[in-house]
Amino acid sequence: MKTTVSVIKADIGGCPGHSTCNQKLIDNAKKILLKSKVINDFYVTHCGDDLELIMVHGKGVNNKEVHKLAWSVFESGTKIAKKEEYHGAGQDLLKNAFSGNVKGMGPGVAEMEFEERKSDPVLVFMADKTEAGAWNFPLYKIFADPFNTAGLVIDPHMHEGFLFEVLDARTGKTVQLSSPEEIYDLLALIGSPGRYIIKAVYSKKKDIAAVTSTQKLSQMAGRYVGKDDPVMICRAQSGFPAVGEVLEPFAFPYLVSGWMRGSHNGPFIPVSQRDARCTRFDGPPRVICIGFQVANRKIIGPQDMFDDPAFDLARQKANEIADYIRRHGPFQPHRLPDEEMEYTTMPAVMKKLSGKFK
Ligand code: F6R
Ligand code: MG
Ligand code: MG
Repeated sequence: MKTTVSVIKADIGGCPGHSTCNQKLIDNAKKILLKSKVINDFYVTHCGDDLELIMVHGKGVNNKEVHKLAWSVFESGTKIAKKEEYHGAGQDLLKNAFSGNVKGMGPGVAEMEFEERKSDPVLVFMADKTEAGAWNFPLYKIFADPFNTAGLVIDPHMHEGFLFEVLDARTGKTVQLSSPEEIYDLLALIGSPGRYIIKAVYSKKKDIAAVTSTQKLSQMAGRYVGKDDPVMICRAQSGFPAVGEVLEPFAFPYLVSGWMRGSHNGPFIPVSQRDARCTRFDGPPRVICIGFQVANRKIIGPQDMFDDPAFDLARQKANEIADYIRRHGPFQPHRLPDEEMEYTTMPAVMKKLSGKFK
């Protein structure tokens, strides 16, 4: 049986500020998805101010009806957000009329279709206050680093490695690189997560293993409208990395760009759904993970994977790093380099000062 997992998300208004998503938006989304005949099952949550729709169905990726359903949830939620005067109501809905696919319209999308295995564990990661390339580091660790994933060495089904599909966000072109043979080329690209974004990972037999949302909001809107706050879907077990190997990279709170005004580097802190609320300096950038089994197009046993003391040390470390890096105030490398600040005041400041440069 072919099953599709679609994760479609948007920031349609925060409350208060850009910190979190009001329960009314979550309830409204659940109400609409429950009535729909288009999908077989769903799970609604939020990460920070982003409303996250996890949907399971049999209609394939880029399906018009599924995208239309997600768009209708965001449109309806935007009405509530506007009425209740949430902050940035309708922020990510960059277009008015739906034209068949939410891609390019503001919401983030990650989707994969696969033949259901006898047991199919899936992990969905959702982030707030960071960019699409934030998944480069963990995807490399999960699918290419034997110090992270023991299975790359000792599981005969994973020993041959994986294929990485990398998007150049500047040109829109993609390149496929094979691990372990081409890992140095791969790292040369994905070490620049602002430009090169891992879009998908496949087994050497071309089975889909992971997929990410790669939309760049600023490029779509032509101005800064908030960071991309990306999502990622990963399959696990039996030839793919184990659930614990997929979670392992998040035990290290690596640095990502985003945070306050989308213009700062900061630690990526893994949190429970309960703590998926951005606070200090509008962050720190957060990641949550919902794990479940997919069976007969149903979501079985969803679990809040970072709601666990095993990630306490990562959270403590993240807080230490946040404290340290925050003391740099407006200085790099806490603040992002100039090129990545183009949607801020930088051009205006330069224009004002241009006559004063002697
Ligand atoms: C970052 C983010 C926030 C806002 C900041 C200013 O992605 O959403 O850090 O950039 O709170 O928001 P406005 O301009 O709405 O006052
Ligand atoms: Mg927001
Ligand atoms: Mg957000």
